[in-house]
Amino acid sequence: MKLLATLLLVGLWAATLTDAYFYVPNFMSSLPFQGGSAFAQRGGDSIVIFGGENGTNPYTNGLFQLQQTGDTFTWQALEQQNPPPGSTYGQAIVSNTGSTFLLMGGLSQSTANQLLPLQMYSYNFDSKSWGAWGGNANTNATGVPLNRQRFTATYDNNTSVYIYGGSLNNSVIFGDFYKLDTGKMQFTELPNAGEHRYGHTASMLSDGKLVVIGGVALDQNNVPDLVPMQQVLVFDTKTNTWTAQNTQSSGGSYPSTRTDHSAVVTSDDKIVIFGGDSGSDMRNRQYLNAIAILDTKTWTWEIPTVDGIPPSRRSFAVSGSFDDQHVLFAFGSALNTQYNDLNVFNLADSKWLQSFDESDSDSGSGVSGGLIAGVTIAAVVLLCIILFLLWRFQSYIRWLALRIHHDIWKPRTGEPVWAETSRIVCQIFMLFLFVCFLVFVIRQAINSPNVTQRIEEAAAQVDVPDVRFCFDGFPTYGNNDPRDPGVVCQTDTGYSCSGSIQPLDMSVFTPSFASNLGAVSCFLFRSDADFKMTSTSGANNGSRMLFTFFGDQSVNYGRVHVSLYPKQMDPNVKVYNLNDDIPVIMSDFDVLTWQVNERNDLGTTNIFEVEPYSYNALSYNLIDHRYLQPVGWNYVGFSPITNSTPEVESNFRAEAPNPNYTQTHADLAFIAIYPESFANYTDREVKMYTLLNALGFVGGIFGLLVAVQTWLFGFRPSSPWGLVHRWSVGEMKRSLLRGLQTSFKPTDSSIPLVHPLHPRFSMNNMPQDLAYESEGQRISRVEERMQMMEMLFKSYYVNDEIFRSLDNATKSVPPGSTAGSPNGPLFPSEKGADVQRSNTGGFSHMFNHRQSVASTSSDAHSQQNLNASGRL
Ligand SMILES: *[C@@H]1O[C@H](CO)[C@@H](O)[C@H](O)[C@H]1NC(C)=O
Ligand SMILES: *[C@@H]1O[C@H](CO)[C@@H](O)[C@H](O)[C@H]1NC(C)=O
Ligand SMILES: *[C@@H]1O[C@H](CO)[C@@H](O)[C@H](O)[C@H]1NC(C)=O
Ligand SMILES: *[C@@H]1O[C@H](CO)[C@@H](O)[C@H](O)[C@H]1NC(C)=O
Ligand SMILES: *[C@@H]1O[C@H](CO)[C@@H](O)[C@H](O)[C@H]1NC(C)=O
Ligand SMILES: *[C@@H]1O[C@H](CO)[C@@H](O)[C@H](O)[C@H]1NC(C)=O
Ligand SMILES: *[C@@H]1O[C@H](CO)[C@@H](O)[C@H](O)[C@H]1NC(C)=O
Ligand SMILES: *[C@@H]1O[C@H](CO)[C@@H](O)[C@H](O)[C@H]1NC(C)=O
Repeated sequence: MKLLATLLLVGLWAATLTDAYFYVPNFMSSLPFQGGSAFAQRGGDSIVIFGGENGTNPYTNGLFQLQQTGDTFTWQALEQQNPPPGSTYGQAIVSNTGSTFLLMGGLSQSTANQLLPLQMYSYNFDSKSWGAWGGNANTNATGVPLNRQRFTATYDNNTSVYIYGGSLNNSVIFGDFYKLDTGKMQFTELPNAGEHRYGHTASMLSDGKLVVIGGVALDQNNVPDLVPMQQVLVFDTKTNTWTAQNTQSSGGSYPSTRTDHSAVVTSDDKIVIFGGDSGSDMRNRQYLNAIAILDTKTWTWEIPTVDGIPPSRRSFAVSGSFDDQHVLFAFGSALNTQYNDLNVFNLADSKWLQSFDESDSDSGSGVSGGLIAGVTIAAVVLLCIILFLLWRFQSYIRWLALRIHHDIWKPRTGEPVWAETSRIVCQIFMLFLFVCFLVFVIRQAINSPNVTQRIEEAAAQVDVPDVRFCFDGFPTYGNNDPRDPGVVCQTDTGYSCSGSIQPLDMSVFTPSFASNLGAVSCFLFRSDADFKMTSTSGANNGSRMLFTFFGDQSVNYGRVHVSLYPKQMDPNVKVYNLNDDIPVIMSDFDVLTWQVNERNDLGTTNIFEVEPYSYNALSYNLIDHRYLQPVGWNYVGFSPITNSTPEVESNFRAEAPNPNYTQTHADLAFIAIYPESFANYTDREVKMYTLLNALGFVGGIFGLLVAVQTWLFGFRPSSPWGLVHRWSVGEMKRSLLRGLQTSFKPTDSSIPLVHPLHPRFSMNNMPQDLAYESEGQRISRVEERMQMMEMLFKSYYVNDEIFRSLDNATKSVPPGSTAGSPNGPLFPSEKGADVQRSNTGGFSHMFNHRQSVASTSSDAHSQQNLNASGRL
């Protein structure tokens, strides 16, 4: 049994592993969205990343370090003094001492389309400061490569950086090849490969070979075209020679041609490439997210079958490898989208991981194989155990079978076998129908869909939601300038609710709005719990809130984004760490998800745009949504377990802006916010089918089947004994039988309905001993049977109430009225009966409940008597 349990546990454990899902919400809400950054590996566990493009800035200059620590990553922005101008599509290395980060090339605002020497800046990790290379401005220098983008700069981890290809813009594409001595900071021009190329990768193998893969090259007619994967360029740094190396493919197909992809060299000199695009113009460009692996020992391409959740398709990703098993691809761009995710690929399992924890388990197919083996073994063991039990308890099982047969095979006397057989066949068929129905009903309850019911109760007062106002594009001038953004709140009764409005600290978190109109500043309206909207007039705070926006009236393109949150579901409280007198019940995960969505500007519900110079109205309903919890009890359908989620529903209307608004108004715009109706709303989720409902169906069908059975095969009286009595064993059974025996004290020969009244009625050929009994003995035997019959009927079959009533009625009638009856009383009282029978021995005691228990001597006497009559 223990073994079985262990096997099942192993199976379950394996099954949960296959669906593991890595999840880095705290990164998703803090990593910047960027692509085309310059990056370099530092030490064995970090990548340093500089610049790149994001949605709003094509040339950023942030410097970050991503470090693998144990099973996870840490992300940190490095402090920079004197940072260089932002740039994109540059290259970088970290010196083998780990102390310097050298940034090379790339485009920046000031160098685009400029024929300048390669722009270089170095960052010192100790002093946290940047320095520019002296030659950056020396346009007259010779032997120095021109500044470029989408080139490669590959470090040999000693003193040399190999710089190949790249482009300045679409019309200036380079084919030159240089070595930079990082000690002297001098360039040496090396023999080139005779090919102008950009968007390729160049990877340094452990034997000093530089492998150039993919990208776009100019053909003989100077037309740019994707480089086929059937050939890679190899530069041997020891002999300073180029070779065109043909490749094979292990599966018959080569990886897609691509440009701007990423490449990582593993410790066994395999090159893993990921992503890239087709290099066409933006309208026709297509992106890849496939992995391909080039084994440089055999020059064979392998396109692995990949498990896990593949990353989004992209180019210009950051890549690196921190150990023998994993390679990382992060960030990157696809058209106007930049990514801020980390994707780890496990080489051994050929699987995209989302957590390092699963990396040590065996391969993906092995897991399900193990599961199958485990289940098979468990099944075999179970079968053996069942067979053993069958063998061990075979006598008991035989007895059981006999009992069951005895219980169901009950032909009525005189009924032919076919009648009983068809009755049993029909019963089994109906039982089968019933079981099918039962299974159907239970399945229905288990797979039941949920429906939501809305319950509306009128209420005099309703709560108000939290409202966030984000001014987008309205600058802040400071020093209480009247043009600073601001919100004023008042209710229709004139009560000022401006005290509940507070500015949000944009340095903590700034929501992004893709239209990017300019500065963003937000305010939150969050009232205390006592502030309510009231439907009636009187001493209250009114029935609607009127918000007036102030800001620079000259910014006619700006917008105010208005969002509504139920008080308990306001993520701003958690993000900005506001005073939460009404506790916010959102989980940290939900808050992070919300932040990620805010950064992607994905909100659509309960968020509205207010134009300057306009009038707007917004109505809301606060709803208590009771979601069913995923617990087993909820299948029962009685007193379900739910959790309450406050929600808000809103409707918005904006009027067109009035161009002459500023002539008559000092403010920007106006919005009225009010409850749609004065009612408490509850959305209650319920299961459509529950086991409780099913019970009704089951009862109905059961009754129907029983009725059909009775109609077809007649009624059979049901036994006064139930399953408990019938199937009890051992002492229980004995005590039941003993009870019967002592209460009814039957003579062994004469049980009514079982033994024939007289041997001549017997169906068996019984000895005719009783034929010689005397008249008196016969009468007393018949009386005894009669009395036992009555007792049994009274105890088990009939309700004797009416008989007792009759008895009472007879007693209450004056004796004179019956005295004249020739037959005397119809039912003599028990006392009278005793007197009558006193001459027949102890029988009267025997049949009297009240006396038989107490009088043991007469019992013994009667027992003797019975024995005597038995012997006759
Ligand atoms: C782009 O980067 C700049 C810093 O260079 C930052 O201020 C801005 O918020 C970023 N935009 C996005 C959409 O991340
Ligand atoms: C580069 O060289 C340094 C020291 O010479 C060494 O510690 C480091 O492991 C090397 N890195 C690689 C990737 O070979
Ligand atoms: C590329 O740069 C060169 C050099 O500044 C310039 O002459 C040429 O017009 C540029 N081409 C494009 C397409 O911008
Ligand atoms: C480059 O050379 C020109 C003339 O050859 C000279 O006038 C100019 O000053 C030089 N520029 C620099 C930065 O040396
Ligand atoms: C590093 O370069 C120097 C000079 O260029 C050379 O003497 C040395 O052997 C190189 N070290 C390694 C590990 O290749
Ligand atoms: C409406 O809900 C509030 C709390 O949300 C409660 O205090 C009030 O009694 C409810 N009114 C009705 C009519 O149920
Ligand atoms: C009006 O709202 C305030 C909270 O802002 C509350 O303290 C006060 O009791 C309310 N007044 C009435 C009359 O309900
Ligand atoms: C705005 O003002 C101008 C001149 O003052 C007037 O001609 C025009 O009709 C006004 N427009 C509206 C919509 O009131």
